[in-house]
Amino acid sequence: MSEQQRPQAETDAPVFSPRKNGQAQSVSDELAGWMSTGWADTEMRDLEPIEQAEHTARRRETLGAAFPGDRLVIPSGQLLTRSNDTEYPFRAATNYAYLTGDTTDGNCLVLTPKAGGGHEVTLYLKPRSNRDNGEFWLGGYGELWTGRRNSLEEAAVLLGVATADVRTLPAALRADDAVTTRIVRGHDTELDTVVDELRADTDEESRAKSVKLDEDLGVALADHRLVKDEWEVAQLQLAVDATTRGFGDVAKALPQAKDTSERYVEGTFFLRARVEGNDVGYGTIAASGANATTLHWTRNDGPVREGDLLLLDAGVETTTLYTADVTRTMPVSGTFTDLQRKVYDLVYAAQEAGIAAVAPGKPFTAFHEASQRVLAEGLVEWGLLEGPVERVLELGLQRRYTLHGTGHMLGLDVHDCAVSRQETHLYGDLKAGMVLTVEPGLYFQPDDLTVPEELRGIGVRIEDDVLVTEEGRTVMSAGLPRSSADVEAWLAERLPR
Ligand code: GLY
Ligand code: MN
Ligand code: MN
Repeated sequence: MSEQQRPQAETDAPVFSPRKNGQAQSVSDELAGWMSTGWADTEMRDLEPIEQAEHTARRRETLGAAFPGDRLVIPSGQLLTRSNDTEYPFRAATNYAYLTGDTTDGNCLVLTPKAGGGHEVTLYLKPRSNRDNGEFWLGGYGELWTGRRNSLEEAAVLLGVATADVRTLPAALRADDAVTTRIVRGHDTELDTVVDELRADTDEESRAKSVKLDEDLGVALADHRLVKDEWEVAQLQLAVDATTRGFGDVAKALPQAKDTSERYVEGTFFLRARVEGNDVGYGTIAASGANATTLHWTRNDGPVREGDLLLLDAGVETTTLYTADVTRTMPVSGTFTDLQRKVYDLVYAAQEAGIAAVAPGKPFTAFHEASQRVLAEGLVEWGLLEGPVERVLELGLQRRYTLHGTGHMLGLDVHDCAVSRQETHLYGDLKAGMVLTVEPGLYFQPDDLTVPEELRGIGVRIEDDVLVTEEGRTVMSAGLPRSSADVEAWLAERLPR
Protein backbone atom coordinates (compact mmCIF):
# COMPACT_ATOMS: atom_id res chain seq x y z
CA MET A 1 0.00 0.00 0.00
CA SER A 2 1.48 3.33 -0.95
CA GLU A 3 1.04 6.45 1.09
CA GLN A 4 -1.68 7.73 -1.20
CA GLN A 5 -3.62 4.51 -1.02
CA ARG A 6 -4.23 4.29 2.71
CA PRO A 7 -7.81 3.12 3.06
CA GLN A 8 -10.46 5.36 4.49
CA ALA A 9 -12.15 4.94 7.83
CA GLU A 10 -15.13 2.94 6.53
CA THR A 11 -13.99 -0.63 6.70
CA ASP A 12 -16.18 -1.75 3.82
CA ALA A 13 -14.69 0.80 1.44
CA PRO A 14 -12.69 -0.68 -1.45
CA VAL A 15 -8.98 -0.63 -0.71
CA PHE A 16 -7.82 -0.80 -4.27
CA SER A 17 -7.10 1.74 -6.89
CA PRO A 18 -7.63 0.56 -10.45
CA ARG A 19 -4.51 -0.29 -12.40
CA LYS A 20 -3.58 2.55 -14.70
CA ASN A 21 -3.73 1.69 -18.39
CA GLY A 22 -4.67 -1.87 -17.59
CA GLN A 23 -5.91 -3.78 -20.65
CA ALA A 24 -9.22 -4.79 -19.06
CA GLN A 25 -10.87 -1.42 -18.57
CA SER A 26 -14.05 -2.52 -16.85
CA VAL A 27 -15.57 -5.35 -14.85
CA SER A 28 -19.00 -6.60 -15.87
CA ASP A 29 -21.56 -7.16 -13.11
CA GLU A 30 -21.59 -10.83 -14.04
CA LEU A 31 -17.83 -11.17 -13.61
CA ALA A 32 -17.81 -9.16 -10.38
CA GLY A 33 -20.58 -11.31 -8.92
CA TRP A 34 -18.96 -14.53 -10.03
CA MET A 35 -15.55 -13.52 -8.64
CA SER A 36 -17.06 -12.82 -5.25
CA THR A 37 -18.36 -16.36 -4.87
CA GLY A 38 -17.08 -19.90 -5.03
CA TRP A 39 -14.16 -19.56 -2.64
CA ALA A 40 -13.40 -22.00 0.12
CA ASP A 41 -13.18 -20.84 3.72
CA THR A 42 -9.43 -20.61 4.32
CA GLU A 43 -9.49 -18.95 7.71
CA MET A 44 -6.83 -20.56 9.91
CA ARG A 45 -8.38 -21.50 13.24
CA ASP A 46 -5.78 -23.74 14.81
CA LEU A 47 -2.90 -21.27 15.18
CA GLU A 48 -0.58 -20.92 18.17
CA PRO A 49 1.14 -17.73 19.30
CA ILE A 50 4.61 -17.17 17.85
CA GLU A 51 7.52 -17.98 20.15
CA GLN A 52 8.34 -14.30 20.50
CA ALA A 53 4.88 -13.37 21.82
CA GLU A 54 5.74 -13.68 25.50
CA HIS A 55 8.78 -11.46 24.97
CA THR A 56 6.91 -8.78 23.04
CA ALA A 57 4.28 -8.71 25.81
CA ARG A 58 6.99 -8.06 28.40
CA ARG A 59 8.62 -5.38 26.24
CA ARG A 60 5.30 -3.57 25.82
CA GLU A 61 4.75 -3.75 29.57
CA THR A 62 8.16 -2.19 30.23
CA LEU A 63 7.54 0.54 27.69
CA GLY A 64 4.09 1.34 29.06
CA ALA A 65 5.45 1.58 32.60
CA ALA A 66 7.91 4.24 31.43
CA PHE A 67 5.09 6.42 30.08
CA PRO A 68 2.14 6.12 32.48
CA GLY A 69 -0.93 8.01 31.29
CA ASP A 70 0.43 8.59 27.78
CA ARG A 71 -0.82 7.12 24.52
CA LEU A 72 2.03 5.56 22.52
CA VAL A 73 1.87 5.15 18.75
CA ILE A 74 4.44 2.91 17.08
CA PRO A 75 3.93 2.53 13.29
CA SER A 76 5.42 -0.25 11.16
CA GLY A 77 5.99 2.09 8.21
CA GLN A 78 4.46 2.26 4.76
CA LEU A 79 5.60 0.89 1.42
CA LEU A 80 7.42 3.51 -0.59
CA THR A 81 6.47 3.70 -4.25
CA ARG A 82 9.32 3.53 -6.71
CA SER A 83 7.13 4.00 -9.75
CA ASN A 84 3.48 3.20 -10.53
CA ASP A 85 2.78 -0.07 -8.75
CA THR A 86 6.39 -0.94 -8.01
CA GLU A 87 7.71 -0.41 -4.51
CA TYR A 88 11.07 -0.29 -2.81
CA PRO A 89 11.74 -3.33 -0.66
CA PHE A 90 9.92 -2.94 2.65
CA ARG A 91 11.54 -3.42 6.03
CA ALA A 92 9.41 -2.88 9.13
CA ALA A 93 10.43 -0.17 11.57
CA THR A 94 12.71 -1.59 14.24
CA ASN A 95 10.71 -0.50 17.29
CA TYR A 96 7.49 -1.87 15.79
CA ALA A 97 9.10 -5.26 15.15
CA TYR A 98 10.58 -5.24 18.66
CA LEU A 99 7.22 -4.64 20.31
CA THR A 100 5.02 -6.84 18.11
CA GLY A 101 7.08 -9.55 16.40
CA ASP A 102 5.29 -8.50 13.20
CA THR A 103 7.25 -7.41 10.12
CA THR A 104 4.52 -6.37 7.69
CA ASP A 105 3.76 -2.92 6.28
CA GLY A 106 1.01 -0.41 6.83
CA ASN A 107 0.28 -1.27 10.46
CA CYS A 108 0.56 0.44 13.83
CA LEU A 109 0.79 -0.54 17.51
CA VAL A 110 -1.05 1.69 19.95
CA LEU A 111 -0.78 1.63 23.75
CA THR A 112 -3.74 3.51 25.19
CA PRO A 113 -3.68 4.47 28.90
CA LYS A 114 -6.40 2.84 31.00
CA ALA A 115 -8.32 4.73 33.66
CA GLY A 116 -7.01 2.57 36.49
CA GLY A 117 -3.40 2.58 35.25
CA GLY A 118 -1.54 0.50 32.71
CA HIS A 119 -2.22 0.45 28.99
CA GLU A 120 -4.61 -1.25 26.63
CA VAL A 121 -2.70 -2.71 23.71
CA THR A 122 -4.17 -2.68 20.20
CA LEU A 123 -2.42 -3.68 17.04
CA TYR A 124 -4.01 -1.90 14.08
CA LEU A 125 -3.48 -4.04 10.98
CA LYS A 126 -4.49 -4.27 7.36
CA PRO A 127 -7.12 -7.00 7.31
CA ARG A 128 -7.27 -9.78 4.73
CA SER A 129 -8.40 -8.47 1.35
CA ASN A 130 -12.11 -8.26 1.05
CA ARG A 131 -13.79 -10.84 -1.19
CA ASP A 132 -16.96 -8.76 -1.60
CA ASN A 133 -15.59 -5.56 -3.09
CA GLY A 134 -13.13 -7.14 -5.52
CA GLU A 135 -10.01 -5.89 -3.82
CA PHE A 136 -8.54 -9.37 -3.53
CA TRP A 137 -8.18 -9.69 -7.28
CA LEU A 138 -8.48 -6.15 -8.66
CA GLY A 139 -6.40 -4.20 -6.17
CA GLY A 140 -2.69 -4.01 -6.81
CA TYR A 141 -2.18 -5.07 -3.19
CA GLY A 142 -4.91 -7.68 -3.10
CA GLU A 143 -4.40 -11.27 -2.16
CA LEU A 144 -4.15 -12.58 -5.71
CA TRP A 145 -1.46 -10.00 -6.54
CA THR A 146 0.83 -9.89 -3.53
CA GLY A 147 -0.26 -12.81 -1.41
CA ARG A 148 -2.45 -13.51 1.56
CA ARG A 149 -2.38 -11.35 4.67
CA ASN A 150 -3.47 -12.79 7.98
CA SER A 151 -7.00 -11.99 9.05
CA LEU A 152 -7.31 -9.81 12.14
CA GLU A 153 -8.40 -12.86 14.13
CA GLU A 154 -5.42 -14.91 12.95
CA ALA A 155 -2.99 -12.10 13.72
CA ALA A 156 -4.45 -11.70 17.21
CA VAL A 157 -3.69 -15.34 18.00
CA LEU A 158 -0.25 -15.36 16.37
CA LEU A 159 0.97 -12.14 17.97
CA GLY A 160 -0.88 -12.50 21.27
CA VAL A 161 -2.47 -9.08 21.13
CA ALA A 162 -5.84 -7.51 20.38
CA THR A 163 -6.13 -6.41 16.75
CA ALA A 164 -8.24 -3.85 14.90
CA ASP A 165 -8.62 -2.66 11.32
CA VAL A 166 -5.94 -0.05 10.57
CA ARG A 167 -8.47 1.93 8.53
CA THR A 168 -10.13 2.87 11.81
CA LEU A 169 -6.94 4.18 13.40
CA PRO A 170 -6.95 7.88 12.41
CA ALA A 171 -10.51 8.22 13.72
CA ALA A 172 -9.62 6.35 16.91
CA LEU A 173 -6.72 8.70 17.54
CA ARG A 174 -8.83 11.79 16.82
CA ALA A 175 -11.59 10.57 19.13
CA ASP A 176 -9.46 11.43 22.15
CA ASP A 177 -7.44 14.61 21.76
CA ALA A 178 -7.03 15.18 25.50
CA VAL A 179 -4.58 12.35 26.13
CA THR A 180 -0.87 13.06 25.66
CA THR A 181 0.10 11.17 22.53
CA ARG A 182 3.63 10.25 21.55
CA ILE A 183 4.57 8.73 18.20
CA VAL A 184 7.74 7.12 16.86
CA ARG A 185 8.02 9.71 14.15
CA GLY A 186 9.26 9.36 10.59
CA HIS A 187 7.71 6.04 9.56
CA ASP A 188 4.19 7.04 8.61
CA THR A 189 3.57 10.57 7.39
CA GLU A 190 -0.21 10.31 7.71
CA LEU A 191 -0.06 9.23 11.33
CA ASP A 192 2.59 11.86 12.07
CA THR A 193 0.12 14.42 10.70
CA VAL A 194 -2.79 13.06 12.74
CA VAL A 195 -0.71 13.38 15.91
CA ASP A 196 0.36 16.90 14.91
CA GLU A 197 -3.31 17.84 14.48
CA LEU A 198 -4.16 16.46 17.92
CA ARG A 199 -1.56 18.70 19.48
CA ALA A 200 -2.45 21.75 17.42
CA ASP A 201 0.73 23.50 18.52
CA THR A 202 0.45 27.18 17.88
CA ASP A 203 3.62 28.61 19.35
CA GLU A 204 7.31 27.89 19.34
CA GLU A 205 7.34 26.60 22.90
CA SER A 206 4.61 24.01 22.46
CA ARG A 207 6.12 22.89 19.16
CA ALA A 208 9.45 22.29 20.92
CA LYS A 209 7.60 20.36 23.63
CA SER A 210 5.96 18.22 20.96
CA VAL A 211 9.27 17.33 19.38
CA LYS A 212 10.55 16.30 22.81
CA LEU A 213 7.50 14.06 23.49
CA ASP A 214 8.31 11.99 20.43
CA GLU A 215 12.07 12.06 20.83
CA ASP A 216 11.77 10.80 24.40
CA LEU A 217 9.75 7.81 23.19
CA GLY A 218 12.39 6.90 20.58
CA VAL A 219 15.19 7.34 23.12
CA ALA A 220 13.41 5.18 25.71
CA LEU A 221 12.89 2.40 23.17
CA ALA A 222 16.54 2.51 22.15
CA ASP A 223 17.50 2.33 25.84
CA HIS A 224 15.20 -0.64 26.39
CA ARG A 225 16.73 -2.44 23.42
CA LEU A 226 20.33 -2.09 24.66
CA VAL A 227 20.20 -5.31 26.70
CA LYS A 228 18.96 -8.24 24.64
CA ASP A 229 16.67 -10.89 26.07
CA GLU A 230 17.43 -14.58 25.59
CA TRP A 231 15.22 -14.84 22.55
CA GLU A 232 17.01 -11.93 20.88
CA VAL A 233 20.43 -13.40 21.60
CA ALA A 234 19.30 -16.66 19.98
CA GLN A 235 18.11 -14.75 16.90
CA LEU A 236 21.43 -12.93 16.67
CA GLN A 237 23.25 -16.24 16.89
CA LEU A 238 21.13 -17.54 14.00
CA ALA A 239 22.08 -14.45 11.99
CA VAL A 240 25.76 -14.90 12.80
CA ASP A 241 25.72 -18.61 11.95
CA ALA A 242 24.04 -17.94 8.61
CA THR A 243 26.64 -15.24 7.98
CA THR A 244 29.41 -17.74 8.73
CA ARG A 245 28.00 -20.03 6.07
CA GLY A 246 27.88 -17.12 3.62
CA PHE A 247 31.55 -16.33 4.23
CA GLY A 248 32.38 -20.00 3.61
CA ASP A 249 30.55 -19.84 0.27
CA VAL A 250 32.53 -16.74 -0.69
CA ALA A 251 35.83 -18.47 0.08
CA LYS A 252 34.88 -21.30 -2.26
CA ALA A 253 33.80 -18.85 -4.96
CA LEU A 254 37.00 -16.77 -5.06
CA PRO A 255 38.10 -18.29 -8.39
CA GLN A 256 34.84 -17.18 -10.03
CA ALA A 257 35.18 -13.76 -8.40
CA LYS A 258 38.62 -13.44 -9.98
CA ASP A 259 37.00 -14.05 -13.37
CA THR A 260 34.29 -11.46 -12.75
CA SER A 261 34.26 -8.79 -10.03
CA GLU A 262 33.45 -7.94 -6.44
CA ARG A 263 29.81 -8.39 -7.52
CA TYR A 264 30.36 -12.14 -7.53
CA VAL A 265 31.32 -11.95 -3.88
CA GLU A 266 28.28 -9.83 -3.05
CA GLY A 267 25.99 -12.14 -5.03
CA THR A 268 27.41 -15.30 -3.49
CA PHE A 269 26.81 -14.01 0.02
CA PHE A 270 23.32 -12.79 -0.88
CA LEU A 271 22.44 -16.15 -2.45
CA ARG A 272 23.20 -17.89 0.84
CA ALA A 273 21.08 -15.36 2.73
CA ARG A 274 18.13 -15.74 0.37
CA VAL A 275 18.12 -19.52 -0.07
CA GLU A 276 17.92 -19.84 3.70
CA GLY A 277 14.92 -17.47 3.73
CA ASN A 278 16.84 -14.47 5.06
CA ASP A 279 18.06 -11.12 3.80
CA VAL A 280 21.07 -8.92 4.48
CA GLY A 281 21.05 -6.35 7.29
CA TYR A 282 22.95 -3.72 5.30
CA GLY A 283 24.56 -3.32 1.91
CA THR A 284 27.34 -5.89 1.57
CA ILE A 285 30.82 -4.40 1.39
CA ALA A 286 32.88 -6.52 -1.00
CA ALA A 287 36.08 -4.54 -1.35
CA SER A 288 39.12 -5.89 -3.10
CA GLY A 289 42.54 -4.25 -3.30
CA ALA A 290 42.53 -0.51 -2.68
CA ASN A 291 38.72 -0.47 -2.47
CA ALA A 292 39.17 -1.91 1.02
CA THR A 293 40.40 1.51 2.12
CA THR A 294 36.91 2.92 1.46
CA LEU A 295 35.03 2.06 4.65
CA HIS A 296 31.57 1.53 3.19
CA TRP A 297 32.48 0.37 -0.32
CA THR A 298 29.15 -0.99 -1.55
CA ARG A 299 29.60 -0.29 -5.27
CA ASN A 300 31.31 -3.67 -5.47
CA ASP A 301 32.21 -3.18 -9.12
CA GLY A 302 35.96 -3.56 -8.89
CA PRO A 303 38.13 -6.48 -9.97
CA VAL A 304 39.27 -9.23 -7.59
CA ARG A 305 42.94 -9.89 -8.31
CA GLU A 306 45.16 -12.76 -7.31
CA GLY A 307 47.52 -10.76 -5.09
CA ASP A 308 44.81 -8.61 -3.48
CA LEU A 309 43.25 -8.69 -0.09
CA LEU A 310 39.48 -9.00 -0.19
CA LEU A 311 37.63 -7.23 2.63
CA LEU A 312 34.15 -8.68 3.03
CA ASP A 313 31.87 -6.92 5.53
CA ALA A 314 28.47 -8.61 5.44
CA GLY A 315 25.66 -9.70 7.71
CA VAL A 316 22.62 -11.90 7.31
CA GLU A 317 19.37 -10.46 8.66
CA THR A 318 16.94 -13.09 9.94
CA THR A 319 13.26 -13.13 9.02
CA THR A 320 12.73 -11.64 12.50
CA LEU A 321 15.00 -8.74 11.45
CA TYR A 322 18.04 -9.38 13.66
CA THR A 323 21.32 -8.85 11.84
CA ALA A 324 24.91 -9.98 12.07
CA ASP A 325 27.79 -7.65 11.15
CA VAL A 326 31.01 -9.49 10.39
CA THR A 327 34.18 -8.60 8.48
CA ARG A 328 36.98 -10.79 7.29
CA THR A 329 39.93 -9.67 5.22
CA MET A 330 41.32 -12.54 3.21
CA PRO A 331 44.12 -12.97 0.67
CA VAL A 332 42.56 -13.85 -2.67
CA SER A 333 45.49 -16.18 -3.43
CA GLY A 334 45.01 -18.03 -0.16
CA THR A 335 48.25 -16.72 1.37
CA PHE A 336 49.12 -13.32 2.82
CA THR A 337 52.27 -11.61 1.53
CA ASP A 338 54.71 -10.64 4.30
CA LEU A 339 53.54 -7.04 4.15
CA GLN A 340 49.84 -7.93 4.14
CA ARG A 341 50.44 -10.25 7.09
CA LYS A 342 52.26 -7.50 9.01
CA VAL A 343 49.29 -5.15 8.66
CA TYR A 344 46.78 -7.93 9.33
CA ASP A 345 48.57 -9.12 12.45
CA LEU A 346 48.60 -5.63 13.94
CA VAL A 347 44.82 -5.29 13.37
CA TYR A 348 44.38 -8.76 14.86
CA ALA A 349 46.37 -7.78 17.96
CA ALA A 350 44.20 -4.67 18.28
CA GLN A 351 41.06 -6.79 18.01
CA GLU A 352 42.35 -9.23 20.63
CA ALA A 353 42.93 -6.31 23.00
CA GLY A 354 39.47 -4.91 22.19
CA ILE A 355 37.69 -8.22 22.75
CA ALA A 356 39.53 -8.72 26.06
CA ALA A 357 38.21 -5.33 27.21
CA VAL A 358 34.57 -6.41 26.73
CA ALA A 359 33.10 -7.44 30.09
CA PRO A 360 30.17 -6.45 32.28
CA GLY A 361 30.89 -3.32 34.30
CA LYS A 362 33.57 -2.08 31.91
CA PRO A 363 32.94 1.26 30.22
CA PHE A 364 31.58 1.01 26.67
CA THR A 365 34.58 3.09 25.57
CA ALA A 366 37.16 0.64 27.02
CA PHE A 367 37.35 -1.75 24.08
CA HIS A 368 37.76 1.13 21.65
CA GLU A 369 40.57 2.61 23.72
CA ALA A 370 42.30 -0.77 24.09
CA SER A 371 42.25 -1.37 20.33
CA GLN A 372 43.33 2.13 19.44
CA ARG A 373 46.28 1.88 21.81
CA VAL A 374 47.57 -1.27 20.13
CA LEU A 375 47.19 0.29 16.69
CA ALA A 376 48.91 3.52 17.77
CA GLU A 377 51.80 1.56 19.29
CA GLY A 378 52.24 -0.38 16.07
CA LEU A 379 52.10 2.70 13.90
CA VAL A 380 54.72 4.42 16.07
CA GLU A 381 56.91 1.32 15.98
CA TRP A 382 56.69 1.25 12.19
CA GLY A 383 57.72 4.91 12.06
CA LEU A 384 54.44 6.05 10.50
CA LEU A 385 53.61 8.19 13.50
CA GLU A 386 56.01 10.06 15.72
CA GLY A 387 55.80 9.01 19.39
CA PRO A 388 55.33 9.03 22.21
CA VAL A 389 52.22 6.87 21.98
CA GLU A 390 50.44 8.89 24.70
CA ARG A 391 50.76 12.03 22.56
CA VAL A 392 49.47 10.17 19.48
CA LEU A 393 46.45 8.93 21.41
CA GLU A 394 45.78 12.27 23.05
CA LEU A 395 45.76 14.03 19.69
CA GLY A 396 44.08 11.10 17.94
CA LEU A 397 46.75 11.08 15.24
CA GLN A 398 46.35 7.34 14.59
CA ARG A 399 42.90 8.10 13.25
CA ARG A 400 44.41 9.11 9.90
CA TYR A 401 44.81 5.35 9.38
CA THR A 402 42.10 3.88 11.64
CA LEU A 403 39.31 6.25 10.59
CA HIS A 404 36.31 4.74 12.43
CA GLY A 405 35.25 3.76 15.94
CA THR A 406 36.09 0.23 17.06
CA GLY A 407 32.53 -0.99 17.32
CA HIS A 408 28.87 -0.44 18.02
CA MET A 409 25.80 -2.08 19.46
CA LEU A 410 24.19 -4.75 17.30
CA GLY A 411 20.65 -6.08 17.23
CA LEU A 412 17.62 -5.31 15.09
CA ASP A 413 19.66 -2.53 13.53
CA VAL A 414 23.23 -2.94 12.44
CA HIS A 415 24.14 0.26 14.27
CA ASP A 416 21.70 -0.56 17.03
CA CYS A 417 20.25 1.78 19.65
CA ALA A 418 22.07 4.73 18.11
CA VAL A 419 19.70 7.26 19.70
CA SER A 420 19.88 5.88 23.24
CA ARG A 421 21.05 8.16 26.03
CA GLN A 422 24.79 8.86 26.24
CA GLU A 423 24.83 7.90 29.92
CA THR A 424 23.44 4.43 29.18
CA HIS A 425 25.37 3.84 25.95
CA LEU A 426 28.42 5.84 24.88
CA TYR A 427 29.42 6.85 28.42
CA GLY A 428 27.72 3.93 30.14
CA ASP A 429 29.04 0.56 31.30
CA LEU A 430 28.60 -2.74 29.51
CA LYS A 431 25.96 -5.08 30.88
CA ALA A 432 25.38 -8.80 30.38
CA GLY A 433 23.05 -9.22 27.41
CA MET A 434 24.48 -6.41 25.34
CA VAL A 435 25.78 -7.42 21.90
CA LEU A 436 28.37 -5.33 20.12
CA THR A 437 30.89 -5.48 17.33
CA VAL A 438 34.64 -5.23 17.83
CA GLU A 439 36.07 -4.14 14.51
CA PRO A 440 39.42 -2.35 14.42
CA GLY A 441 40.92 -1.59 11.04
CA LEU A 442 43.87 0.01 9.30
CA TYR A 443 43.43 1.79 6.00
CA PHE A 444 46.31 3.14 3.94
CA GLN A 445 44.80 5.20 1.16
CA PRO A 446 46.31 4.71 -2.30
CA ASP A 447 47.16 8.42 -2.48
CA ASP A 448 48.49 8.85 1.07
CA LEU A 449 52.01 10.21 0.72
CA THR A 450 52.66 9.84 4.48
CA VAL A 451 53.02 6.08 4.20
CA PRO A 452 55.61 4.02 2.30
CA GLU A 453 54.51 3.26 -1.22
CA GLU A 454 54.21 -0.48 -0.60
CA LEU A 455 51.56 0.09 2.09
CA ARG A 456 49.38 2.29 -0.05
CA GLY A 457 46.12 0.65 -1.06
CA ILE A 458 46.08 -1.87 1.79
CA GLY A 459 42.94 -1.95 3.93
CA VAL A 460 42.30 -4.47 6.70
CA ARG A 461 39.34 -4.79 9.05
CA ILE A 462 38.46 -7.70 11.32
CA GLU A 463 34.97 -7.55 12.80
CA ASP A 464 33.31 -9.91 15.22
CA ASP A 465 30.02 -9.92 17.10
CA VAL A 466 30.45 -10.20 20.85
CA LEU A 467 27.89 -10.97 23.55
CA VAL A 468 28.56 -9.55 27.02
CA THR A 469 27.97 -12.34 29.54
CA GLU A 470 27.92 -12.42 33.35
CA GLU A 471 31.38 -13.98 33.23
CA GLY A 472 32.84 -11.78 30.51
CA ARG A 473 32.10 -12.30 26.85
CA THR A 474 31.29 -14.77 24.10
CA VAL A 475 32.47 -14.20 20.54
CA MET A 476 29.33 -15.16 18.65
CA SER A 477 31.18 -15.27 15.32
CA ALA A 478 33.95 -17.56 16.57
CA GLY A 479 32.98 -20.01 13.81
CA LEU A 480 35.07 -17.90 11.44
CA PRO A 481 38.88 -17.77 11.60
CA ARG A 482 40.53 -14.60 12.91
CA SER A 483 44.32 -14.97 13.06
CA SER A 484 46.25 -14.77 9.79
CA ALA A 485 47.32 -18.42 10.12
CA ASP A 486 43.74 -19.54 10.77
CA VAL A 487 42.43 -17.51 7.83
CA GLU A 488 44.96 -19.20 5.55
CA ALA A 489 44.08 -22.66 6.86
CA TRP A 490 40.36 -21.92 6.43
CA LEU A 491 40.94 -20.75 2.85
CA ALA A 492 43.09 -23.79 2.08
CA GLU A 493 40.19 -26.04 3.00
CA ARG A 494 37.84 -24.18 0.68
CA LEU A 495 39.80 -22.94 -2.32
CA PRO A 496 39.87 -25.48 -5.14
CA ARG A 497 43.34 -27.02 -5.45
N1 GLY B 1 28.98 -2.87 8.27
C1 GLY B 1 29.07 -1.59 8.84
C2 GLY B 1 29.84 -1.61 10.08
O1 GLY B 1 30.68 -2.47 10.24
O2 GLY B 1 29.63 -0.86 10.97
MN1 MN C 1 30.08 -2.88 12.33
MN1 MN D 1 30.57 -4.35 9.38
